[in-house]
Amino acid sequence: MEIKRVGVLGCGLMGSGIAQTAASAGFETIVREVSDELLQKGFAGIEKSLSRFAEKGTITAEQQKAIRDRLSGTTSFADLADCDIVIEAIIENIEEKRKTYAELDRICKPETIFASNTSSISITEMMTATSPSRQQRFIGLHFFNPVPIMKLVEVVKTILTDDAIYERAIEFGKQLGKVPVRAGDKTGFIVNRLLVPYMLDAIRALEEGVGSIVDIDTSMKLGLGYPMGPFTLGDFVGLDTTYYIAEIMFNEFREKRFAPPPLLKRMVLAGLYGRKSGRGFYDYTKDPKNPTPMKLV
Ligand code: CAA
Repeated sequence: MEIKRVGVLGCGLMGSGIAQTAASAGFETIVREVSDELLQKGFAGIEKSLSRFAEKGTITAEQQKAIRDRLSGTTSFADLADCDIVIEAIIENIEEKRKTYAELDRICKPETIFASNTSSISITEMMTATSPSRQQRFIGLHFFNPVPIMKLVEVVKTILTDDAIYERAIEFGKQLGKVPVRAGDKTGFIVNRLLVPYMLDAIRALEEGVGSIVDIDTSMKLGLGYPMGPFTLGDFVGLDTTYYIAEIMFNEFREKRFAPPPLLKRMVLAGLYGRKSGRGFYDYTKDPKNPTPMKLV
């Protein structure tokens, strides 16, 4: 069960970070996207990140080149056929994911391990789109943004995952230079189970006038040493993503703490997605490095 060749599905923010991490750890890595344009966009992000590491001296120019040489891109599923593991980081849509897994199941060799980077969709629900033998080789590998920097990976086991495959996945997480934690297939796993109610509570506190955007962010940063306050983090993760995760968690657990507050829903409806759309809890359009808080309440 040696892993040599890694396939990554999707070259967006998470997929490109996962591909970069795998290639940096010495794995031959191939990334599949739907178009050359999206591939190029993802690879430009990888290049930028590698250059940051090179400028800091974390990697040498030779290592940067070797990482690049281990990375390739494709728009065809067939090129992933002989990968030892395929990590999926495509759009968070269950139908899309099931369709992709069913196709991949037919194409990949029987030994290939399937892993999903989903943050909120049930691994079990995706897994059932594949054949019974593949279902035992199906896990979750949930990384955190920015993937090349964040040390954690949640390794998710379903009730059908083979024990040896699971241990192999834990080992693979370590080989990637991450710290793996073991998590069950419960929506949100460990991190989002705790993070999502916290972020939603911060929005409720804002709505109730407990504090301003800046004061709540400053409190959590300076009072607790968090790298970002909840609103800066929400804008960083994406408010559409946060809303989507909260909806799935609310549907799973039917608990109020996972229910997205009205303000979050309205922000998403209004296209305030955070950094990616230029505005969220902060406005990044004038000076992205010094964003100004939005007037929302
Ligand atoms: N590639 C290479 N280097 C990077 C990088 C990248 N993509 N992103 C950041 N860095 C480096 C910077 O070069 C810098 O390096 P030095 O300290 O050596 O100079 C370092 O990381 C810190 O970056 P910055 O100075 O730009 O900014 P910062 O100090 O605020 O750190 C951060 C940025 C690492 C993102 C930090 O703010 C942080 O840890 N934030 C919290 C991120 C977080 O919580 N992520 C999880 C989100 S939840 C999720 O992803 C999962 C989900 O399911 C929703």
